[in-house]
Amino acid sequence: MNLNGIRTSLHRPSPKAFRDGTDRSVSPEETLARVAPIARAAGVTRVGGVGGLDRIGIPVYCAFRPDSRNLAVSQGKGTTRPAARASAVMEAIELWHAERHRLPVRYDTAERLAGSGERPADVAGMVKCPCHEFAPDRLLRWVRGLEMLEEEPVWVPYESVHCDWRLPTAYGEHSFQNGSNGLASGNTMAEAVVHALCEVIERDSIVRFDRLAPEASAARRVDPATVDDPECHRLIGLFEQAGIELIIWDMTSELGVPTYSCVAVEVDSPWYRPLPQTQGSGTHPLRRIALLRAITETAQARAAVIAGSRDDIFDERYELYFDGSARDRVAAEVTVSATRSFHDLRDADHGTANEDLAWLLGVLAGHGHRQAAVVDLTDPAYGLPVVKVVVPGLEWRPWEE
Ligand SMILES: Nc1ncnc2c1ncn2[C@@H]1O[C@H](COP(=O)(O)OP(=O)(O)OP(=O)(O)O)[C@@H](O)[C@H]1O
Ligand SMILES: [Mg+2]
Repeated sequence: MNLNGIRTSLHRPSPKAFRDGTDRSVSPEETLARVAPIARAAGVTRVGGVGGLDRIGIPVYCAFRPDSRNLAVSQGKGTTRPAARASAVMEAIELWHAERHRLPVRYDTAERLAGSGERPADVAGMVKCPCHEFAPDRLLRWVRGLEMLEEEPVWVPYESVHCDWRLPTAYGEHSFQNGSNGLASGNTMAEAVVHALCEVIERDSIVRFDRLAPEASAARRVDPATVDDPECHRLIGLFEQAGIELIIWDMTSELGVPTYSCVAVEVDSPWYRPLPQTQGSGTHPLRRIALLRAITETAQARAAVIAGSRDDIFDERYELYFDGSARDRVAAEVTVSATRSFHDLRDADHGTANEDLAWLLGVLAGHGHRQAAVVDLTDPAYGLPVVKVVVPGLEWRPWEE
């Protein structure tokens, strides 16, 4: 799609007609019916529920895509079975879009682009590879995106956009972090961009939280008794009934976009079947949806360990699960008292994804961000909105995850 196309589709009204555990324009059932032909084209061979392997009762699904150029199994979670299924299928579809190369690319240097009156992304603020080889005079691939704060064209390093993990990489790559942070699909363009922006804010908030002094982070444990949203309350109750401690951390950064991270801990895990501490996080303008995302992702992470369904959890990680010292550290985490209230955060309730988007962009601009780029990865043959969002200045440390 050209830039005028994405500008127009971003502004197309996207009312939240479905608000049951997620803010969407249509129900998960309708999404699944709409995308079934795309899932087939993307090579999804099977979608299976794995949540039942655990004893919590939160739905978790896997979408299998054996011919992938990236992870072959996408995990999905939700408060209902159709929502979890839609999340797995949509993630498989978004990755498929990002690993095929359809966009025109320009080979150029950051220096030359800036010198020729074009606008390159603010490369200084972008997340680099740990072994990064970036230099302003290094030739690399760029793709056109839309900078959403000023709605102007911007050139984005292609390495930070695509998710084709085949080797060898193209010349110039190993400059910027490659990966799926900020990659999202949605029923509408605004919905996809809101999801992507929330994801980049979530990852950034986690990095910043990890830098807090121990006393500051300890003060962010949320008291579950203060969580009065009925759906969050129901899910917290499922962990309680299963005898699994759910620790909730308020990881909201200075941006003020509600961000929670949960840790599920089995302090008395039986020796013959140790289950690790798992973690999940979520960000959303509404704190209850941020928390629902964090809780369901925590359950998803457990199910993935039990089912062995993640391509990137290797034997060494499983061996760590048997490591007693790791369990002692977890036990220490449980003893931090929960002093923070769910009501300590202010949130923003809007009736449309367009308003969420405008609010998120306003938050970024209000905190000094000058660029929020979106690259449109929608395949015109299918018309399902898929985007990659890059916000220079927001952090991400995938190699520490
Ligand atoms: N009900 C739904 N309708 C349309 N799209 C959905 C729905 N649920 C999830 N998606 C899309 O599916 C993708 C995966 O979303 P999900 O919330 O499951 O994971 P995520 O938080 O992005 O996970 P990860 O941290 O692994 O990237 C996103 O692109 C999201 O927009
Ligand atoms: Mg995602």
